[in-house]
Amino acid sequence: MEEKKKYSRTLVTTALPYANGPVHIGHLAGVYVPADIYVRYLRLKGEDVLMIGGSDEHGVPITIKAQKEGVTPQDIVDRYHKIIKDSMAGLGISFDVYSRTTSEMHRRTASDFFKTLYDKGEFVEKMSKQFYDEEADQWLADRYITGTCPHCGNEHAYGDQCEACGTSLNATDLINPRSAITGNVPVLKETKHWYMPLDKWEPRLRQWILEEHKEWKTNVYGQCKSWLDAGLQPRAVTRDLNWGIPVPIEGAEGKVLYVWFDAPIGYISNTKELRPDDWEKYWKAPDTRIIHFIGKDNIVFHCLIFPAMLMAEGSYQLPENVPANEFLNLEGDKISTSRNWAVWLNEYLEDFPGKQDVLRYVLTANAPETKDNDFTWKDFQDRNNNELVAILGNFVNRAIVLTNKYFDGVIPEAHELTDYDRATIEEFKGVKDALSQALDTFHFRAALAEAMKLARIGNKYLADTEPWKLAKTDMPRVETIMNLALQITANLAIAFEPFLPFSAEKLRAMINMDSVLWDKLGDIDILKAGDRVEKPVLLFEKIDDETIKVQTDRLERIKQENILKNFQPKAVAPTVSFDDFQKLDIRVGKVLNCEKVKKADKLLKFTIDDGMKGRTIVSGIAKFYQPEDLIGKEVCFIANFAPRTLKGVESQGMILSAEDADGRLVVIGPHGEVRPGVQVG
Ligand code: MF3
Ligand code: ZN
Repeated sequence: MEEKKKYSRTLVTTALPYANGPVHIGHLAGVYVPADIYVRYLRLKGEDVLMIGGSDEHGVPITIKAQKEGVTPQDIVDRYHKIIKDSMAGLGISFDVYSRTTSEMHRRTASDFFKTLYDKGEFVEKMSKQFYDEEADQWLADRYITGTCPHCGNEHAYGDQCEACGTSLNATDLINPRSAITGNVPVLKETKHWYMPLDKWEPRLRQWILEEHKEWKTNVYGQCKSWLDAGLQPRAVTRDLNWGIPVPIEGAEGKVLYVWFDAPIGYISNTKELRPDDWEKYWKAPDTRIIHFIGKDNIVFHCLIFPAMLMAEGSYQLPENVPANEFLNLEGDKISTSRNWAVWLNEYLEDFPGKQDVLRYVLTANAPETKDNDFTWKDFQDRNNNELVAILGNFVNRAIVLTNKYFDGVIPEAHELTDYDRATIEEFKGVKDALSQALDTFHFRAALAEAMKLARIGNKYLADTEPWKLAKTDMPRVETIMNLALQITANLAIAFEPFLPFSAEKLRAMINMDSVLWDKLGDIDILKAGDRVEKPVLLFEKIDDETIKVQTDRLERIKQENILKNFQPKAVAPTVSFDDFQKLDIRVGKVLNCEKVKKADKLLKFTIDDGMKGRTIVSGIAKFYQPEDLIGKEVCFIANFAPRTLKGVESQGMILSAEDADGRLVVIGPHGEVRPGVQVG
């Protein structure tokens, strides 16, 4: 059942990634892979579709990164724009245009857009108080202010958010605010800004989303509803900053457009860049369908603020759908650019050459469509080995190998079909509708499962009909079976093209299929008897444990580095007197012997020369030392510690050690030579 077309063209936009780091699997699973699947599908159906992308190159995080590195913001965005653009191309994300918000086209488009709204009187001007650093002679964005979080007491909270407790903040909420530039106490000064009166658009937004778009994904609809129910406030669309698009009106010197004002206009600028002559029909014609692919943190901007801007301008179409995804986690933890907790696309492409489709497959099969999901390397390996290799790759390989073996690569004729053949054909014909239906409604995981079903049907067909057993006795039957198996192979080349374009291309080359049309999906006469197939090429290969271990080891290292980086000394304990201190008898001793305690994997048993008759001390540091490495070393121990028995060994004291941030214990000893038994104090 083909969906009835109510539109003549589709404009697909993908959230413009910030050019302050490479893109990672979270971006891909949330936005670029589903958008690419969708666009490739529409192209296969012969529809008029544009896929718009680009880098988001303004905003405070970029200026902060530049400042940290001692380079200009332009240097930062030049670097990451290239990395992002090249790596997306490397993964086969098929943008029709991938531009950037520092382009001249964008500066002009965003500037004109602001001017239009300004001239129409769509903004409200307001004075407000904002932090200012007098020494740096600079306004301070919320991110540029640090201080103590009023909720959890973290002393390193930012003016927009406390990363310790996750609360979003205003800079004025911070206790003891400091400028991140000079460390000075900032002053509050009056400044003028222009605001979008979102309250004015609230009734129209309400009607448009809550009444007219009940079909939107529940996570998107729900988030919009809770924003609308809470009541929309005017939002400033300008900032006191020296990186961005200058506010194009008099009296706004030193001010730029807020990054979230200019970035979505980037979709328009980039469409103009791609189609200078007819871009307007993709934005303004009523028979155009605009779809925004984004992550959930972008919902308010794409469903409320940008539409309000478009309504205020007056000549643009509103999006037809905004299929936002939830978040993808990595090995159980939130992906974070600043903590380097991510699988970066550019690194993946280097580490796994030729395996673009494996990542595309795993990210789609595991896409966070309705709830947050987790990426693990184990799951990556399992899905590759048990699904791509064992099901899809295996079926295709068998079909091509057997055709080469029995028919010298020539596609055989199909003769009379059995009931089983007919049942199989019926089954895979159904896949087309299910697959189209899932793709039309942005259910990409379900769509991929349908495509895999086709491969499963093929596998089962060969396993059940066992052509290799019939080759001696019933060649005409083998011809029919292999013809059908090859037709299923051709179907796979169509069905998988949106999901796994690299493998679909290899597959097409193997069966000499030069056109792919969605329309043909489900047909059993795609390949012609008498035509040839090529020699088999493996579509997928097993991924071994070693390869996966390299990745999990890397993550483990990063985790340790983060723990050490974030180390903060504990608060100092209450004051004690000298007398209190002297109650502890701390001494230096020499390790005469050291060995593991039987049946206790944490414990080491020390024999200590204490200058007297010697003593035994048991210490829980076995994980951090080889016993023999400690023999002959000098250590500090508490000599008057009450004896305790640990795993049957009496311990007469306690060896002093320091616990590092990662939990590692390091034994403490003197730095010069001293006699065993002398006191420390
Ligand atoms: N750069 C933003 C982010 O990564 C997304 C911008 S989308 C656009 O969250 F609409 F503004 F372009
Ligand atoms: Zn906090």
